[in-house]
Amino acid sequence: MKRYLRIVRYLRPYLPVFAVAVAATFLFAGLDAFSFTLLIPFLETLFADPAEAARTAADGGSEGWLNRALDLTLGRFVDLGAPPAEAIQGIILFLLVVFLFKNIFDFLRNYLVAWIEQAVTRDLRNEVYGHLVELDLSFFGRTRVGQIVSRLTHDVEQLRTLVTKELAKIISSVFELLAAILIMLLLSWELLLAALVVLPIIATVWGPLLKRVRRGDRSILDLAGEVNSHIQETLSGIRLVKASGAEAFERERFGVLTWAYFKAFIRTERFRALSHPLTETMSALGTVVILWYGTRLVLAGGVLSAEEFIVFLAFSMKLYSPVKYLGKLPAIIQPGLVASDRVFEFLDAPIEVQDRDGPRNFEGVREGIVFDDVAFHYREGEPVLDGISFEAPAGSVTALVGPSGAGKTTLMDLLGRFYDATRGRILVDGVPLAEYSMTSLRHGLGIVSQDTVLFHDTVRANIAYGLPGPVSQEALEAAARAAHAHDFIARMPRGYDTVVGERGTQLSGGQRQRIAIARAILRDPPILILDEATSALDSESERLVQEAVDQLLHGRTVFVIAHRLSTIQRADRILVMQEGRIVQSGNHETLLREGGLYGHLHELQFQGS
Ligand SMILES: Nc1ncnc2c1ncn2[C@@H]1O[C@H](COP(=O)(O)OP(=O)(O)O)[C@@H](O)[C@H]1O
Ligand SMILES: [Mg+2]
Repeated sequence: MKRYLRIVRYLRPYLPVFAVAVAATFLFAGLDAFSFTLLIPFLETLFADPAEAARTAADGGSEGWLNRALDLTLGRFVDLGAPPAEAIQGIILFLLVVFLFKNIFDFLRNYLVAWIEQAVTRDLRNEVYGHLVELDLSFFGRTRVGQIVSRLTHDVEQLRTLVTKELAKIISSVFELLAAILIMLLLSWELLLAALVVLPIIATVWGPLLKRVRRGDRSILDLAGEVNSHIQETLSGIRLVKASGAEAFERERFGVLTWAYFKAFIRTERFRALSHPLTETMSALGTVVILWYGTRLVLAGGVLSAEEFIVFLAFSMKLYSPVKYLGKLPAIIQPGLVASDRVFEFLDAPIEVQDRDGPRNFEGVREGIVFDDVAFHYREGEPVLDGISFEAPAGSVTALVGPSGAGKTTLMDLLGRFYDATRGRILVDGVPLAEYSMTSLRHGLGIVSQDTVLFHDTVRANIAYGLPGPVSQEALEAAARAAHAHDFIARMPRGYDTVVGERGTQLSGGQRQRIAIARAILRDPPILILDEATSALDSESERLVQEAVDQLLHGRTVFVIAHRLSTIQRADRILVMQEGRIVQSGNHETLLREGGLYGHLHELQFQGS
């Protein structure tokens, strides 16, 4: 119930529209019931013997609430005392008008409900996406992209019907139910009581069935997310799949997943599908009771006329349809509720790395950056960084070397506050990182890493990515020239307006890298991090990229992570890292003299080249 109330909150901005939709539903249900009661005068007129008809007309109409209501509506437009053929014609015309209005309201409620439904879906998606992009990198480390996509698309779709279609249907079912019960009560309360006998039976069968359905729905959605993840991951790594000849292997793994999904779905559907025949059987049982008891009442005479009995029977059919719906409702809304759990799990995921109140604006490095006894772990008990202390003066170049997995990238991630250190402090000009606003800090940070991400967009947009406001062509070209990227960009079919990235023109590793460097130059950040920016390149592109990098170093506080020692020999300070600790530090010459890990790495490099 609490979950449902949370979902219904999304309806709040659309309450006026929803109220109109409900009013339309109410009128629809009312007119629908009314059209059925018109059967009574119709049948009466059809079967009446003329003498009696004349007498009732002389009496001033028939008795009972229902008849009085009919007199007030139908009686106004149609002369029921007229000859049967004429009266019936009148009734039919009246019926036609009632049907017309009923269907206008039907259109209105369907249209409005669809409108609200899409508005709610849009709001929810925007909210979840907005929260997702704010979430920490660590969240994305734990969560598969496929699951995220699945929750944003499929689950949100599932959820939206709960607030709208089903809610409107619940309301209209209750209306229909009340309207039917009211009229049946007016016709014969004894018979109504008999008809309701089956309801408690339906209720008792439901409980156990629902529990199975609920459990099943959760695993269905989780598995759908896994299927999505698999498609997503193998397609983005399709080169590796093909290069490894792993097509059959992946087909098989995919088959296992879809089979699991199939099994989970079918198992749950077995219980869900049972709900229909079950309620159907119960309502058939109810009809039998009405037929049996009703004919007895009619034959006994006095209480119930044959016409009234027929109308009662018609209403009992109408009664069971909302009863059946309300009975099945728990099974129908189950997937939506489970989907809402999954969506809200994301919405409730806390953003751990956050600005404190009244953060400072990061404007650059005046004195230097200090790491003071910094430690970090991704998972409890598995330290990745430990006891890291060093100082990087403003305007200096600090190089980080060490075997892969030593923690170099992680250390730089702490500087960008992608994660917060678990112990120790990082200070810029004596101020802890956490005091700066995250946005200003990251704007002051240029990162060029090994794998350059290009979005499916123009070269221009990719270079200017994340910058507020428009960027002039001169500034753009100057950055591209400095990055040695202008020449190849100018040769592309549409120059700076060529679409690159996922489905656009494919660029070589060196070209992508130079676009990333142009991006960094354009941002003009006071702190620059080059994380193996040149390690994936052939020597020709490396020379170009190296020249581009040299352009970037001036007047910034720079951190360079590199495999090739040649690129770091000019650093002011070299930190040698191993298993999360700094094991050596100094400049190239002193470290070479010291030997140790640096000497070993140097030797390896020397042999390699
Ligand atoms: N997102 C992550 N979640 C868990 N462990 C990680 C994550 N990123 C890196 N690691 C682990 O942290 C250690 C250091 O990784 P990294 O900083 O990338 O090393 P380097 O950049 O020196 O090669 C490695 O053991 C790696 O497996
Ligand atoms: Mg790394």
